[in-house]
Amino acid sequence: PPVLDQVLATRILDVPDYPQPGVVFKDITPLLGDPAAFGAVVGAMAEQVRASGATRVAGLEARGFILAAPVALAAGVGFVPVRKAGKLPRATFREDYQLEYGTATIEVHRDAFEPGERVMIVDDILATGGTAVAAAKLVRDAGAVPVGLSVLMELGFLAGRDRFAASVPEAGIHTLLLV
Ligand code: PRP
Ligand code: MG
Repeated sequence: PPVLDQVLATRILDVPDYPQPGVVFKDITPLLGDPAAFGAVVGAMAEQVRASGATRVAGLEARGFILAAPVALAAGVGFVPVRKAGKLPRATFREDYQLEYGTATIEVHRDAFEPGERVMIVDDILATGGTAVAAAKLVRDAGAVPVGLSVLMELGFLAGRDRFAASVPEAGIHTLLLV
């Protein structure tokens, strides 16, 4: 909705040349500091979880955790952390991927999901889509079904939507703010 767009847009700051020259960092800390805006975001994402029939929310370390944990609670489903490499204590599935800046590896516990369970992946930003695609692969590796990707923000010019849709056609893409 346009009103939500406006409220959100004023609480997300563009930081040029961070963390490296040529990249514009989207700083959501003002939004997180405003309980009305943060609550509106969590409420809207939780509604997407309910509408999708997902029975679990998978959140992406680190910024995705901030949104995904309250979204899971608000939707009344469990939370699964998808973590950067080396942080989960038991047996995991791993996935390497390219970032807008650099490369990374993420992991999920092998027993994180019930077989065939419907999972909503939650993150702050869909940029190139590399992170979201890797997360969806982990969900599949762990025997569950990625039914959706829910992000606060989508950077349209990086075409992450197309990349994600091509790799994960079974999942819907939900964006609160297209920039
Ligand atoms: C950022 C952002 C998304 C991802 C999007 O995470 O939080 O997770 O990049 O980029 P992509 O669509 O090109 O993959 P990052 O790993 O930079 O850091 P974080 O640990 O602060 O979330
Ligand atoms: Mg991230």
